[in-house]
Amino acid sequence: MRRDKVIIFSGTANPALAKSVASILDSPLGDCAISRFPDGEVSVRIDEPVRGREVFLIQPTSPPVNDNLVELLAMADACHRSSAGAITAIVPYFGYARSDKRHGRREPITASMIAVLMQAVGIRHVVMVDLHSSQIEGFFQTAVDNLTAVPTLCEFLRRRVPSGTVVISPDEGRVKMAIDYARRLDTSIAVLHKERKSGTETRVINVVGEVRDRPCLIIDDMISTGGTIAESIDALLAAGARPEITIAASHGLLLDGAKEKLSHAAIREVVVTDTIPIFNKRWPQLQVVSVGPLIAAAIQCFMEDRSLTALFRNGLIRSANGRHLTRGH
Ligand code: R5P
Repeated sequence: MRRDKVIIFSGTANPALAKSVASILDSPLGDCAISRFPDGEVSVRIDEPVRGREVFLIQPTSPPVNDNLVELLAMADACHRSSAGAITAIVPYFGYARSDKRHGRREPITASMIAVLMQAVGIRHVVMVDLHSSQIEGFFQTAVDNLTAVPTLCEFLRRRVPSGTVVISPDEGRVKMAIDYARRLDTSIAVLHKERKSGTETRVINVVGEVRDRPCLIIDDMISTGGTIAESIDALLAAGARPEITIAASHGLLLDGAKEKLSHAAIREVVVTDTIPIFNKRWPQLQVVSVGPLIAAAIQCFMEDRSLTALFRNGLIRSANGRHLTRGH
């Protein structure tokens, strides 16, 4: 892929992340106009030629999920109809990922429906960060790269978590991720046996593993209402864990009420990435680590037809122009 053939556009969901990626790559963002018609419909105009070019669209489908999704689809459709050479959607947070299976008889598999829509508008490569479940990759007939923010988060956490910290998986689904954290931080894991009562309510039934007198690092792919984390903290403290708890998650949705749930006295720090903009939800314990360097490194690999393996192994540290790519703030 030739560098002058590449053009990056940002939707309105997370322009700060897109700007950081573009600046690391020394490649200005392409011009486009995105607004809303008076009735709320999405209006998109791409103001750069894309014929024959490799187009990267950066847009997490975070809240407002439906608006951000339609924006991404409209941008891709505009590029597709203007004869872009190839369209890659960089969707750092993939909304509707929790709808990846049917729990009853008459439910959609919305993540699968979105995969169909993305392909229908000409997207031929999708890049996400820490997908809720990897089976979603199978919903696409196109190339999919599911990057992980775990190396970036561990780089940040390494010197911040107290010694003897045990990594906690809040449910069975996150065990693989917890093992990855534990391997990188050279420690052990424990698993919470969680039951989901509804979309907003969960209950921890059991703690599997040794947590007595240990500081804990609870990890998750996302923090939405904060209910899972609050339940996990109660269960860990009841099981004798030290009231020194760190939280790490790839995606900080941090919906209304989450901040209050995460202001528990036992919490030392809450660390999330910037796949979703944090806006004005900040509080002193909240730390945000950027995945801009990770995404820039992935694009660099695509441009040079290189393997992404190093990104999974090390978290990627250096760009082609020599600048450091892993950065916390
Ligand atoms: C559940 O399967 C997910 O991995 C997260 O644990 C969950 O979505 C977090 O949501 P909340 O913060 O609302 O508990």
